[in-house]
Amino acid sequence: MSDFTSNFWSVYVAGITLLGILGCAILLWATSRKKVVSTADNTTGHVWDEDLTEMNNPLPRWWMWLFVITIVFAVLYLVAYPGLGTNPGSLGWTSTGQHAKEVATANKELEPLYAQYTAKKVEELAGDGGAMAVGERLFMNNCAQCHGSDARGSKGFPNLTDNDWLHGGTPEKIKETITQGRIGQMPVMAAAVGSPEDVKNVAQYVLSLSGNATDSVRAQLGKSKFTACAACHGIDGKGNQAIGAPNLTDDIWLHGFGEQAIMNMVNNGKVNQMPAQGGKLTEAQIHVLTAYVWGLSNKPTKATP
Ligand code: HEC
Ligand code: HEC
Repeated sequence: MSDFTSNFWSVYVAGITLLGILGCAILLWATSRKKVVSTADNTTGHVWDEDLTEMNNPLPRWWMWLFVITIVFAVLYLVAYPGLGTNPGSLGWTSTGQHAKEVATANKELEPLYAQYTAKKVEELAGDGGAMAVGERLFMNNCAQCHGSDARGSKGFPNLTDNDWLHGGTPEKIKETITQGRIGQMPVMAAAVGSPEDVKNVAQYVLSLSGNATDSVRAQLGKSKFTACAACHGIDGKGNQAIGAPNLTDDIWLHGFGEQAIMNMVNNGKVNQMPAQGGKLTEAQIHVLTAYVWGLSNKPTKATP
């Protein structure tokens, strides 16, 4: 309801609710005052099928009290809980508050378990089967929708199993990525490269870095244009993890393979975001996830006594 700019709808809904309850009470009161007029034999006087008559008994008392109880309950409920328009209720209960409390309780219960995990280094934890089962579940719930349930990613979402890193594959860097998120930004470079022909040439040069050039003349012509790219991707095209610029020589393509895909990158640029998880997951959960992700492309070290 907080989306509305005036409180009209709040008052409207609260009014209908209260009128409904009042209506029930009045109906109950009015009908209970009405005395039952019965004939001498306590029937309504209607007769069907020759001898079928209808008894004229009042509603049982217990039945009437059920009505009274529901009315009292409704009033008490509306005082205590949110229900009357935007009135928050005297107990201050909210569904988000209850959720936060349940999450906090669950996290507290899991603390001793996670304490064992956080005591271990990432490289060691990756060899702990129990911790990795927890890590896999965390990954399924929080990461798989983007990186895939096998963590192999898809177009625009990096493969986390191939030991090819945009932002760095050390435990520290992975943890930083998960906690703070990342933004990969490739600017529109077409103007800096030159004409559309030059863009095509530089695309062929980029392809030649991984042995995929289809036109060696264009690749040769594009080489000098690559200086515009070298600031981020390096003179040798091997990338720069400090700014998330990918290695262009390893034949691993985040945004698609081929001349057209590369020309698209140069002509349109790209902003690609990994959302920060720090506010959503606890530090201990991120520690376990870091070990899980690191372990996808590294062998765990033996526990140090
Ligand atoms: C909404 C989609 C989304 C979700 C959810 C998501 N990621 Fe990502 N992640 C991305 C994108 C997009 C990138 C690439 C960012 C870039 O291009 O620089 C990325 C990058 C990464 C990287 C860096 C890879 C590299 O090569 O350096 C890691 C590690 C990572 N994610 C782990 C995770 C983990 C663990 C989770 C779950 C807690 C997660 N991600 C959840 C979209 C997502
Ligand atoms: C300001 C830094 C910067 C410059 C300059 C730059 N790039 Fe990029 N480039 C990036 C970043 C960052 C990404 C990764 C985007 C992402 O995270 O999704 C990228 C991605 C790419 C990709 C996609 C790689 C893949 O795996 O799919 C190609 C191709 C590419 N750049 C080519 C070029 C070319 C060619 C030039 C020069 C004309 C150039 N870039 C200039 C920063 C830069």
